[in-house]
Amino acid sequence: MTIKEIDEIKEFERIAAHSHITGLGLEGIKAKRIGDGFVGQVEAREAAGIVVRLIKEGRFAGRAVLIAGPPGTGKTSIAIGIAKELGKDVPFVHLAASEIYSSEVKKTEFLTQALRKAIGVRIREVRKIYEGVIKSIDIQKQPHPYNPYYQVPVSATIELATKKEKKKLSMDQTFAVQLVQQNIEEGDVIQIDVEGERLAKLGPSTEKVKKEKFELTGQKPVPIPDGKVLKEKEFVYVVTLHQLDLARAKSGVDFLSLFLGAQRKEIDEDIRREVDEFVRQLIKDGKGELVPGVIFIDECSLLDIETYAFLNRALEQELAPIIIFATNRGIAKIRGTDQTSPHAMPIDLLDRILIITTKPYNQEEIKEIIKIRAKTEKVEIEDEAIELLTKIGLETSLRHAIQLLAPASIIAKESDLEKIKKEHIEKANKLFVDVKRSSKYLKEYEKQFLDY
Ligand SMILES: Nc1ncnc2c1ncn2[C@@H]1O[C@H](COP(=O)(O)OP(=O)(O)OP(=O)(O)O)[C@@H](O)[C@H]1O
Ligand SMILES: [Mg+2]
Repeated sequence: MTIKEIDEIKEFERIAAHSHITGLGLEGIKAKRIGDGFVGQVEAREAAGIVVRLIKEGRFAGRAVLIAGPPGTGKTSIAIGIAKELGKDVPFVHLAASEIYSSEVKKTEFLTQALRKAIGVRIREVRKIYEGVIKSIDIQKQPHPYNPYYQVPVSATIELATKKEKKKLSMDQTFAVQLVQQNIEEGDVIQIDVEGERLAKLGPSTEKVKKEKFELTGQKPVPIPDGKVLKEKEFVYVVTLHQLDLARAKSGVDFLSLFLGAQRKEIDEDIRREVDEFVRQLIKDGKGELVPGVIFIDECSLLDIETYAFLNRALEQELAPIIIFATNRGIAKIRGTDQTSPHAMPIDLLDRILIITTKPYNQEEIKEIIKIRAKTEKVEIEDEAIELLTKIGLETSLRHAIQLLAPASIIAKESDLEKIKKEHIEKANKLFVDVKRSSKYLKEYEKQFLDY
């Protein structure tokens, strides 16, 4: 559980800097000058839009994208824009190459898990559901076998009604326990999924709330359902192959490993094969469809030759996500070899890649982006301050300029001002240096040592 939470926080921090990006800002295949939080970078966005079309039409299998451009020119933003355009339930996995090497598991295992997080299966299921308001409830209890002072539910009988009909249902312990756990009583509207062995309280009925004259209730009142008590309902949801792997692995956990709290870091290849087989069957039976997602690998020039070979093979597999790489390196050595190549990527991979480049922004664009960012961060800023930030952005980097917004707003608040003024930006820029200045500082400092 904790592992998942950390993942979510990391994901949140990464996306937070791009929260103003809601798509690629396109109209057809043309980019609007400003749209979906995007400013400029028109050609890159249009290229990305075409990639989105190819993916949606299923014509992108076995291919990959590389976004190449100087730091802070919107490479990550474009990848996020692509994901947003693909749709809400399309999986998107964001990795920095360095993570692959800092992980506790083997790098192939880490990558396999990441790839499988980026492939979804949309499952359609028609399930039989009992739905209605409880007219009467009777729970049979027995003393606990090892603790006779403690009563446990063993079975239950309820009367469930809709506006049309009433049905008496007797249920075993699986459901009786859930009735007790959820504190379900007369007048509550519930839903029972027999196959899934789940029972859920939807809320108190509006009639019950009216009758008992509650002014406030913790749960939103629900109207009494219409139609029959037993009905068929379609459920549609997307699960990733990785989630299916985990579920499958858990059902196979033996008592001892549960007892010792052993955590499974690696997933058996057998389990993955079973899951793949299960998914294939689902698709064949028309009960599911594949939703290939996107895996975004940032700073990819840090990947070594083995990792590239692995990803290259992954691309050819039947179940493969779309891989988007990003780099700001030009010609460099491929890690793990003596060979130099464009973007430090192996040639055979470069061959099957579509390359999108991002270009540095001009003054007007930087100004526009800073304004959008200020609005999303809900800070008010004077025109003079925007001018200065724009200048800083031109001289250092867009990212540095954007990052100064938050500290400047704190400095402004400290002087009881609602709006950020020029001097607040100056102060923030003095306190927080950009990379060029910080590395120059350290270089000079090192020189002092050498002079000794
Ligand atoms: N065209 C744009 N329109 C709006 N916002 C942008 C645009 N380009 C970049 N940004 C914003 O500027 C910041 C830096 O951009 P981003 O992180 O996407 O650049 P990058 O090329 O990935 O940088 P790096 O090389 O450092 O990873 C982010 O907050 C991003 O959302
Ligand atoms: Mg980036």
